[in-house]
Amino acid sequence: MKEPFLLSKRLSKCAEFIPENTRLIDIGTDHGYLPIWLLKTGKIKSAVATDIRTGPLSEAIKNADKYAADIKFVLSDGFEKISYDSFDTAVIAGMGGELIADILEKKQENDMRNKIFILQPMTKSEKLRDFLYKNKYTIKREEAVKDKEHIYSVMNVEFAGTFEKHEDIDLWMGMISPGTEESTEYASKIIKRLKKIEKGYIVNSSEYINLVNIEHEIVNKYL
Ligand SMILES: C[S@@+](CC[C@H](N)C(=O)[O-])C[C@H]1O[C@@H](n2cnc3c(N)ncnc32)[C@H](O)[C@@H]1O
Repeated sequence: MKEPFLLSKRLSKCAEFIPENTRLIDIGTDHGYLPIWLLKTGKIKSAVATDIRTGPLSEAIKNADKYAADIKFVLSDGFEKISYDSFDTAVIAGMGGELIADILEKKQENDMRNKIFILQPMTKSEKLRDFLYKNKYTIKREEAVKDKEHIYSVMNVEFAGTFEKHEDIDLWMGMISPGTEESTEYASKIIKRLKKIEKGYIVNSSEYINLVNIEHEIVNKYL
């Protein structure tokens, strides 16, 4: 089906990660572009879009009307007002890694089973991955995407129910495979962040003690 409008590269990558014919929920939809685009291109079966604020939600409703997209809108803090059996795939994009982790943390373990989560943190991705590993989630697939001058990661995550074995480097690079322009650029961004932490420009939390070793590993694997 014809695209109703062009998505940003960041949202296009999120769209690429979303399985076909799924019942989608977009947590923190803001403008609503992602669910509108996915419905109008026929990729998904249905869409619920939520936001914690009325302003963005009204904007999303206006945009959905403009493109005649049949979306259910809910004013909700994360999944608070959402019944867990109303969706198969949840996308949480365009927020900080810690906020995404907070939103996931409020859901009961049982509600997370058999769901797919497409997560796209804007900052502190390592904190999100740390939360995922400590709460029995598994990152099934992850890719870096460049949008204008920024580089982001998009992940496909599932609740595994058991603790996933992982190395320290995985907190920083996740499941991103080496060998692409985007993965090289993502690794360079992480190295810069690690150097800032080492020099004390960013507060170091006690978990990240072997920063120099991690830096070497990232350089060897990605750069
Ligand atoms: C920067 S926008 C991202 C919009 C869109 N998801 C994207 O990736 O382009 C973040 C949105 O998340 C909403 N938000 C922040 N915290 C939230 C929460 N706890 N529950 C639902 N929405 C939230 C904000 O109101 C804002 O509209």
